[in-house]
Amino acid sequence: VNPLPPEKRTRDSWDSNAAAWTDAVRTGAMESRRLVTDDAIVGTVLGIDGARVLDVGCGEGWLARRLAEAGRQVTAFDGSAGLIAAARRAGGATFELLDYVDFVARPTRAGGEYDVAICNFSLLGDDVGGVLRAIRSVVVEDGALVVQTLHPVAAADGRYEDGWREERFDALPGAWQPMPWYFRTLESWFRDLRAAGWRLADLREPAHPGTGRPASLILVGR
Ligand SMILES: C[S@@+](CC[C@H](N)C(=O)[O-])C[C@H]1O[C@@H](n2cnc3c(N)ncnc32)[C@H](O)[C@@H]1O
Repeated sequence: VNPLPPEKRTRDSWDSNAAAWTDAVRTGAMESRRLVTDDAIVGTVLGIDGARVLDVGCGEGWLARRLAEAGRQVTAFDGSAGLIAAARRAGGATFELLDYVDFVARPTRAGGEYDVAICNFSLLGDDVGGVLRAIRSVVVEDGALVVQTLHPVAAADGRYEDGWREERFDALPGAWQPMPWYFRTLESWFRDLRAAGWRLADLREPAHPGTGRPASLILVGR
């Protein structure tokens, strides 16, 4: 049994997996991203008014770059030094190394005011309240939060209850360190958003064209 708390192992995994993750994203190795979820998040964000965008847990930065190309002014941050280095090498937006713990302690570290904040598959811990409240404090009053996550029903794996799960990245090439992530039901997502001061304004379930099953869940908070 690994004695480290799951949050710490999640963080460590992103440092270990930075190179393999960057390759997987940039070569389009994840079919659901290529076919469904990349366009779904880009389309949702571009459908919301507001130039100033914050990409929370941006990884190697593809989404920040894509939105900047579409004319948005994007600041992006992530806690993995390897991923931020990869993001900066590719350029196209402002990329900062910042862990959620430090963001929650002082949200202004993520910069000024934003019209839209995005968490694209980047809320992985059991307590997302701090991050969601910190985001609320840097987004303007009538601004928006867009969260894309694994669809709880599609990802439930038989157990439809909140709890830690482990991603082993078996479907992807390369050597990976397993990543703990916290599964939450749709009801829990709704409750956590509300508790952090967000009102659910839109909900989308982009479907995989082959299987017809939802490839993700997109929640828009206002
Ligand atoms: C599945 S990746 C998604 C990356 C990117 N949003 C994308 O769509 O390609 C999850 C990201 O969350 C970041 N992350 C996880 N825990 C974090 C933490 N405590 N602080 C900052 N970033 C964190 C990881 O470093 C990783 O880049």
